[in-house]
Amino acid sequence: MHPMLNIAIRAARKAGNLIAKHYETPQNIEVTKKGTNDFVTNIDRESERLIIEVIRKSYPDHTIITEESGELLGKDDDIQWVIDPLDGTTNFIRRLPHFAVSIAVRLKGRTEVAVVYDPMRNELFTATRGQGAQLNGFRLRVADAKNIEGTIIATGFPFKQKQHATAYMNIMSKLFVECADFRRTGSAALDLCYVAAGRVDAYYEIGLKPWDFLGGELIARESGAIVTDFVGNHNYLASGNLVAGNPRVVKDILATMRDDLSEALKR
Ligand code: IPD
Ligand code: CA
Ligand code: CA
Repeated sequence: MHPMLNIAIRAARKAGNLIAKHYETPQNIEVTKKGTNDFVTNIDRESERLIIEVIRKSYPDHTIITEESGELLGKDDDIQWVIDPLDGTTNFIRRLPHFAVSIAVRLKGRTEVAVVYDPMRNELFTATRGQGAQLNGFRLRVADAKNIEGTIIATGFPFKQKQHATAYMNIMSKLFVECADFRRTGSAALDLCYVAAGRVDAYYEIGLKPWDFLGGELIARESGAIVTDFVGNHNYLASGNLVAGNPRVVKDILATMRDDLSEALKR
């Protein structure tokens, strides 16, 4: 096993166990508002602290980029750990048991290893670049739909950026006519892992941040998915607009979206 994957797993499990423990004792969860419809808890911060501690012990020089602390520049900026300490905070706060810890390790801008851990189901999704992706040690493979017909598509609503509401709903309405049904689970990291596992056929969302998707992206790719922005390019690290699925389904989704993309969504 890649030594950095080993450390990422250790950190994700430790943080996940902490989150699961606090899910059982909601009286100790403190919620703070970060922005419009955007919340953080003391458990997000505590999870992040644990992850950083585990990484720092083995790799004191690596750069760490986290959702809640920003960039902790290390001596070696070629290696970056990108962390979402709790993806699905709204679910966690509302006591919907669906959330995860996401850790991606990038070498010179390319993700090498990834872990997404769902502590409520004890599901550990892992991937190493070029070596496939696993769920609890079993190899993952995307669903093999021939086209969009009959597919289940996961998505996230642009709840923090309601300026995209109309374009988003127009796109969704067209996709809905063509696919079988939608899922909105509330964790982008797990949505990508569910694409990897063939639990859903595809996934798309507007305006994600790197920590939301970098872990799940490698896991999806290593399972045979392609990941693009809304016009089929690879600008999603900057825009956060992302589609994932097997190549045939992604092609159909992009074609269906095309006429309703605002200029902002073409980026
Ligand atoms: C959010 C979740 C959600 C997605 C949002 C993300 P957070 O992350 O992944 O599913 O729709 O775009 O921001 O804030 O819970 O870490
Ligand atoms: Ca997130
Ligand atoms: Ca988060």
